[in-house]
Amino acid sequence: MTPDQRQTPTPTPQPCRIRCCTVGGCLAANALAVKAQFQTAVTAAGLEDQVTVASVGCLGLCGQAPLVQIDPAGDLYTHVTPAHAAPILATLSHPHPPTLPPSHSATPPPLHPSTLPFFTRQHRIVLENSGLIDPERIEDYLAAQGYEALHRCLRDLEPETVIDTITRSGLRGRGGAGYPTGLKWATVAKMPPGQKYVVCNADEGDPGAYMDRSVLESDPHRVLEGMAIAAYAVGANQGYIYVRGEYPLANRHLQTALGQAKRHGVLGSQIFDSPFDFRVDLRIGAGAFVCGEETALIASIEGKRGLPRPRPPYPAESGLWGCPTLINNVETFANIAPILRNGADWFAAIGTAHSRGTKVFSLTGHVQNAGLIEVPMGITLREIVEAMGQGTPDGTPIKAVQTGGPSGGCIPAEAFDTPVDYESLKALGSIMGSGGMIVMDEHTSMVEVAQFFMEFCMEESCGKCIPCRAGTVQLYQLLTKFKHRRATPGDLAQLEALCDMVQHTSLCGLGQAAPNPVLSTLRYFRDEYLAAVVELC
Ligand SMILES: Cc1cc2nc3c(=O)[nH]c(=O)nc-3n(C[C@H](O)[C@H](O)[C@H](O)COP(=O)(O)O)c2cc1C
Ligand code: SF4
Ligand code: FES
Repeated sequence: MTPDQRQTPTPTPQPCRIRCCTVGGCLAANALAVKAQFQTAVTAAGLEDQVTVASVGCLGLCGQAPLVQIDPAGDLYTHVTPAHAAPILATLSHPHPPTLPPSHSATPPPLHPSTLPFFTRQHRIVLENSGLIDPERIEDYLAAQGYEALHRCLRDLEPETVIDTITRSGLRGRGGAGYPTGLKWATVAKMPPGQKYVVCNADEGDPGAYMDRSVLESDPHRVLEGMAIAAYAVGANQGYIYVRGEYPLANRHLQTALGQAKRHGVLGSQIFDSPFDFRVDLRIGAGAFVCGEETALIASIEGKRGLPRPRPPYPAESGLWGCPTLINNVETFANIAPILRNGADWFAAIGTAHSRGTKVFSLTGHVQNAGLIEVPMGITLREIVEAMGQGTPDGTPIKAVQTGGPSGGCIPAEAFDTPVDYESLKALGSIMGSGGMIVMDEHTSMVEVAQFFMEFCMEESCGKCIPCRAGTVQLYQLLTKFKHRRATPGDLAQLEALCDMVQHTSLCGLGQAAPNPVLSTLRYFRDEYLAAVVELC
């Protein structure tokens, strides 16, 4: 033994923490019972002093719910049942191994995230606390540098400096259109002093998308902090979060977070003893997809029917009750505090020249590793689908990936080497959208996919303008003919002409983008449409 070795103190064992995901799909898969059983097992083994059991947000691999991750090793257990709790606890390497009753249930082998591409290819900014902190404890958020960025802004930075930082970071809105966030903030800030509002758009309604829901369920204070920084930057004193009524847990966690934030003085009057006041209220949507469109959302908050109106004026100039209003998406706000904490250059160094930072996607469909991922912009679709998603569950080749929901498009497997950024996805005929990514295997009928999304748009059309109200119905009927292989050669021309008309004459983004799934499938899978045409003699 060398003298150095002799002086090395015996390492103190790192605390053992059992993190149980109790949100989203895990909650639906009996996660609360799993957590309760872990607590019972810990108590039965007399390990309360050495092992803690915590509720946390999403651990990522939602398709294998419910999930439990155990520190300090970080072993990840999937498809956990209450019966697994005691055997898993017994396998933990611990200085004082517990004596546990024999169990009838086999212990599922753990996964090691540090070796899995699903986790190692991620870059977590928005999701940095997801799965680590208890979303219902502001203490956890504060311990993870929570509200430090807000404090620093109020203490050290002028509003213009905050806007300049966001502008230089290159952050673009994550709600779909990718509008530069700093530019939007500057527009609201430049409006004459007076009543201004900040609104968080949490109306996420794309089929297959649950990024915003997960952020709100897993780390709600992050969104509140982003909104408060935005309000300080643009000169607003009132905020609203417009959340889908179908997201009861996100609502509950937001309500809890709002109460805690007020009690801790990080929301309300004279925040951090500064002259800055900011209050936030929740508004619950009633499930209309169109209410995610910003002018419809404003109407809905005002208590009117959620109908879009023509722009300009844009909400930044004339929004809620005619006042300048900043509207950003959940994920956009979730990026704000890390940018202020780490600097614009840090954020701008991640991603590509025109799409900085990361993007959260919900990876769903025919894919082994379905779940929530956060990846640097510029990663290829192939890396996401094949390396992280690990292909289809039964090995069937992948045919396409759908991004952008009902406003997006289907990207064929041949184009999977395309980098994920706003411009590249647009060039392929799809969009980044808010982050839904649906993987489809070779057996998928692309005509049926187009018909599915058109049915969605038809049902969600608010009916205010005729091109969308009537056009989506006619497109749906035509697609149904293709689906049943009853289409005529004229139907194909009619389909294309209608797409063009609806795209160019509809009032809002819902109608303007509704033809996208049809157009992208026509572009890449035209043979499937042609095969459905009956030649009339
Ligand atoms: C039909 C329709 C639905 C939309 N739904 C949402 C939504 O659920 N969440 C969202 O953030 N943006 C949605 N948008 C985009 C918003 O109108 C707006 O651009 C966005 O909230 C701005 O935030 P960002 O700049 O942070 O992306 C939708 C747009 C349309 C046309
Ligand atoms: S495009 Fe569709 S959803 Fe938008 S205003 Fe017109 S009818 Fe309503
Ligand atoms: S919801 Fe539990 S892992 Fe995502």
